[in-house]
Amino acid sequence: MRTIIITGGAGFIGSHVVRRFVTRYPDYKIVNLDALTYAGNLENLRDIESSPAYFFEKADLLNTADIDRIFSTYQPDGVIHLAAESHVDRSILSPLDFVYTNVIGTVNLLNAAKAHWKDNFAGKRFYHISTDEVYGSLGETGFFTETTAYAPNSPYSASKASSDHFVRAYGETYHLPVVITNCSNNYGPNHFPEKLIPLFINNIIHNKPLPVYGDGLYTRDWLFVKDHAAAIDLVFHRGKDYETYNIGGFNEWKNIDLVKLLCKLMDEKLGRSSGSSEKLITYIKDRPGHDRRYAIDATKINKELGWKPSVTFEEGLSQTINWYLENTEWLTHVTSGEYQQYYKKQYDKI
Ligand code: NAD
Ligand code: DAU
Repeated sequence: MRTIIITGGAGFIGSHVVRRFVTRYPDYKIVNLDALTYAGNLENLRDIESSPAYFFEKADLLNTADIDRIFSTYQPDGVIHLAAESHVDRSILSPLDFVYTNVIGTVNLLNAAKAHWKDNFAGKRFYHISTDEVYGSLGETGFFTETTAYAPNSPYSASKASSDHFVRAYGETYHLPVVITNCSNNYGPNHFPEKLIPLFINNIIHNKPLPVYGDGLYTRDWLFVKDHAAAIDLVFHRGKDYETYNIGGFNEWKNIDLVKLLCKLMDEKLGRSSGSSEKLITYIKDRPGHDRRYAIDATKINKELGWKPSVTFEEGLSQTINWYLENTEWLTHVTSGEYQQYYKKQYDKI
C-alpha cells in the first residue's frame, strides 16, 4: 500500500502516468494534484476517475496552505512531480509564469515533502520530471548524457533547469530522497494542440496553414507518451535516490520530414488526395533562441533498469492520429476560449 501525489495529473503526460498507476497498482492511493490551468483537463481521466483509489485535488503549487493541507490529509510516501508550464513559445511571451510555477512551485512542493516527512525519509521518494531542454542545443552529432552541462536557452528550459537544481540541492543539503529524469519530446493522445504534432493534426483537419518555424531543419527526438509513463513507473519503483536518468526515443526527426510524414498519413486517413495536406505547409519567422537539435543517450536507464521504448514511431504516430480523429469533441473543447487568443498572438502573420 502506497500513497502517491502526482502533480500535473490532468495534463498530457501526467494523465498517462495517473492512468498507468491507477490501473496497474490498485492497492495504491493516487492523488492527482492539479491547478487545472489551460493545459489541465479532467476529460483526460474520465475512464479512471471513478476508481476508489483515485483522488483529485484542485490546487495551485503556489498556494502553500493548500499543498500543506493535501499532504496532511493524504500522508503521501511518494511524490511524482509533473506539474509545470510546459510550452516554450508561451515562455517567450510570458517568462514570469514559468518562474512562478516551475521554480517557486517546485520549491513549495519540496518544502512540503521535507516538512511532512520530517527526518524520517525511509521508504519516501520525491521524483521530479524534467526535460532534455535543460542541456541546451546539440550540433549535427553527439547526444545528451546525464553528465552533459546544463545550458538552457529558453525561459522554459531555464525554469526547468532551475527546478532541477533545487531538487538536487534538497537531496544534497537535507538528504531528501530525490530522483530526476530528463526526457525528450513526447507525443501521443491528449497532447495539447499548441505543440507541433497535435497542432498540425488539428490544422490539417481544419485545412489551416501549418506554421513551420525557420528553415524547418530543427531536430527533435520523439518518444511515445506511454513509453515515457512506463519509464516513470520503473524509475519511481527501481531508480536510485539522488540519481538522474535520461529518457529518449532513439528517434530523431527533422521537423520538416516529420511534418511531411504527418501530412501523408493524414491524407490517407482522411481519404484526401495525396499531397493535399503538404500544400498547407507555411514557413514562418523562427522561434527566438530556437535549439537546433536534441538527442538523448538513454544508455543508463537501459542498462541499469532495462527500459527501452516499446512502440515504433510509425505505430505511435498512427495511434496518435487515430485518437485525434476519434476525439474531435476533446479537440473542440480545448481549442475554444483561451486557445483562440493564444493562437492569434502566436501566429498573427498567417
Ligand atoms: P502539460 O502542459 O500538458 O500539463 C501540465 C499540467 O500541470 C496541467 O495539468 C496543468 O494544469 C498543471 N499545472 C500547471 N501549473 C500548475 C500549478 N501552478 N499548480 C498545479 N498544477 C499546475 O505538460 P506535459 O507536456 O504533460 O509535461 C509534464 C511535465 O513533463 C512537465 O514538467 C514538463 O516539463 C515535462 N516534460 C514534458 C515533455 C513533453 O514533451 N511534453 C518532455 C519532457 C519533459
Ligand atoms: O524536449 C522536450 C520538450 O519538448 C519538453 O520539455 C517541452 O515541454 C515540450 O513542449 C517540447 O518542446 P519543443 O519546443 O521541442 O516542442 P514543440 O512541439 O513546441 O516544438 C517542436 C519543434 O517544432 C521545435 O523545433 C519547434 C517546431 N515548431 C513548433 C511549433 C509549435 C514549429 O516549427 N512550428 C510550430 O508551430
